[in-house]
Amino acid sequence: MCGIIGYIGKKKALPILLEGLKALEYRGYDSSGVAFLKGKNVNIIKAVGPIVALEKKLNLDEDTFVGIGHTRWATHGVPNEVNSHPHTSGAVTLVHNGIIENYNELKSFLEVEGVKFKSETDSEVAAALINYFYEKSKNILEAIQKFKGKAKGSYAIGLIVSNDVNKIYVIKNMSPLIIGISEDGHYLASDVPAILNRTDKYITLLDGEYAEISFESLVLYDNEGKEKCIEIKTFQGDATCIDKGKFEHFMLKEINEEPDVVKTILTKYLVNDALKELPDLSKYRGVTIVACGSAMHAGLIGKYIIESHLNIPVTVEIASEFKYKKLLLNKEDVVIAISQSGETADTLAAVKIAKSVGCHTIGIVNVKESSIAREVDNVVYTLAGSEIAVATTKAYLAQVIILYLMGFRNEMNKTMSTSFLKIPNQISKLITSYDYEKIASYIEKNESVFFIGRLIDYALCMEGSLKLKEVSYIHSEAYAAGELKHGTISLITDGTPVFAILTDQNIADKTISNIKEVKVRGAKVILIVSESLDNVSKDVYDEKIVIPSIYKEIDSLLSVIPLQLIAYYCAKLRGCAIDKPRNLAKSVTVE
Ligand code: G6P
Repeated sequence: MCGIIGYIGKKKALPILLEGLKALEYRGYDSSGVAFLKGKNVNIIKAVGPIVALEKKLNLDEDTFVGIGHTRWATHGVPNEVNSHPHTSGAVTLVHNGIIENYNELKSFLEVEGVKFKSETDSEVAAALINYFYEKSKNILEAIQKFKGKAKGSYAIGLIVSNDVNKIYVIKNMSPLIIGISEDGHYLASDVPAILNRTDKYITLLDGEYAEISFESLVLYDNEGKEKCIEIKTFQGDATCIDKGKFEHFMLKEINEEPDVVKTILTKYLVNDALKELPDLSKYRGVTIVACGSAMHAGLIGKYIIESHLNIPVTVEIASEFKYKKLLLNKEDVVIAISQSGETADTLAAVKIAKSVGCHTIGIVNVKESSIAREVDNVVYTLAGSEIAVATTKAYLAQVIILYLMGFRNEMNKTMSTSFLKIPNQISKLITSYDYEKIASYIEKNESVFFIGRLIDYALCMEGSLKLKEVSYIHSEAYAAGELKHGTISLITDGTPVFAILTDQNIADKTISNIKEVKVRGAKVILIVSESLDNVSKDVYDEKIVIPSIYKEIDSLLSVIPLQLIAYYCAKLRGCAIDKPRNLAKSVTVE
C-alpha cells in the first residue's frame, strides 16, 4: 500500500527516489510520482501504472538534491495522475500514506476559505490545511502542529516547502515512516528495506511526532512540539532478499525458501530450553487471535493446535471486525496479533484496543521493529526474512510453525522434537516431487474451484483457496467438508475442480464420504492425502498428491506447499502479475 520515499543530501536525488520507489513496489500501488526542488521551484512528475512509466518521464541527471516520492494505492479517487501524489497547495507539496478521516469536513472549511481542489483525495486536503496555517504564520513547524490538532486519522507525510529550499519535513501518525541517516544525507521511507542500498542506520518516529530534516541536521519533535533526542538504530534484518536470484518470480523464490525458514525457526527453538522463551499461553483464561488475510488463516490453525494441546479456548477474530464488536476480554486473557508486515492498520488498532482493556498482548510478527512489534507487550519474530511477493507464502508458514511451537511448548519431548526437525527436508521433497504446473493446467481454465477438508485441513483449505484467487484470479471457495452439501454443492458440475485435504485419521472416513458426494456430481478431485492415509480407493479422486507422514498434525501443514505451488503455476499459465496481483497490497496501512 502507499509507499513514501525522500532524500536530501549531497547526491542527485532522482536516482535515489526512483530506486526507493522500486523497492517499495512490493507494497502494491497503481500510480507513482516525485516532487523535487530546483532553487525555489517545486517540480512534480507523476505517472499512472508501473514505476517504469514514471522512470520514462524523469531526467535522472537533474540537478536536484532534495525530493520526495510516492507510490499510491488508490483509496480516495480513481488511480489517475491528478489523484496521484505529490499534492501541492500554495507553498506546500507533500506525499501522504494513510487516511485523513475528517477530510470532508476539513475540505468544506477550506473551500469556504477560498481553497480550490484539483483531486478527489484526502491527501490534497492535508496539503491545503498545512498550507492554510503556513500562510497565516509563515512558520511551517507551527503549521504542522496546527494541522495535527485538526486532522483525524492516519498519516505519514513527507513535505517540502517552496520557500524553504533546503529542508524536508515529516509527520507521522499511525502510518509507518522512518528516517534514514547516512554520511551523504538523510532519507525518509515507509520501511527500512526501501533505503537499505543506501544506509542501514535509521530512526523511528512515534505517533504524533514530526521532524525537520536538512542535509546536515535532523531535529525531531515530540507530539507536543518539544525537541527530542534521536536514537539511531541499525537494521538487523536480511538485506539480500530483494533479489529474485534464479527464480522467475519472488513468489516461487519464497516458496523455495520455506525449508530454510522452518529450519531457522526450529534451530532457534528446539535446542536446550529455548522453547520456554515462547510465551506460556496455558496461564491465561483464554486466547484471542487477531489478524487479517493469510495471517488470520494461520491463526485458525493456531486455534486447533492451542486448543488441543493447551486446553484453552481460542477465538480467532478478523482484526477489522474485532475493533467494532463488544469485547468480553479482561486481563486474564491474552491477545495474539499475527502479522507479516507488522504494519496492518486493522491489526495494529486491535492491539491497541486489547491493551486498553488490560489484556496482555503478544505479536507474531515478521518485520522487525515494525509498528505492531513495537506496540505489543511481547513480540515473537517469525524469522522468515524479507517477503516481497504480495501473496504471502513463507511468512505464513513461519507464523504457523510458531503457533505449533507455542501449542506444543509444554509437552515437547524428544520424539516430537525429532518429528518437527523432519519438516524442512519433507518440504524440500514436496517442492520437487510433483509436476505442479501439470496439475495447474487441469484447473487454470476453470472459473471456480473448491477446497474441502475438516478441522486443521479446513483451515489449510482456506489458505489454499485464498492463494489461488489472489494470484490467479480464479474464483474459489473453501468449505468445511461436511458443510458443502448445505448449499454450495449446487455449484459442483461436471469437471468442477475440488481440492480435498485428508490428513486426520480420526475424521478420514467422514471426509472421504464428502469427497464421494462431489465426485458423483462430476467434480474433478485433486486429493492431498497424508502417506498414512494413502489407501483411498482410486475412484474417489482424479489426481493425488501424497504428503509424507511425520506426526499427526504436522502432516496437515505440509499440504500448504502443493497448494501454494499450484496457485503459482495457475497464475503463471494465466499470465497474471504473480508478485503484484491487481488491486492487492502487501502492507495494508489503512483501516
Ligand atoms: C494483505 C496482504 C495479505 C496479508 C494481509 C495481512 O491483505 O495482501 O497477503 O495476509 O494483508 O498482512 P500482514 O502483514 O498483517 O500479515
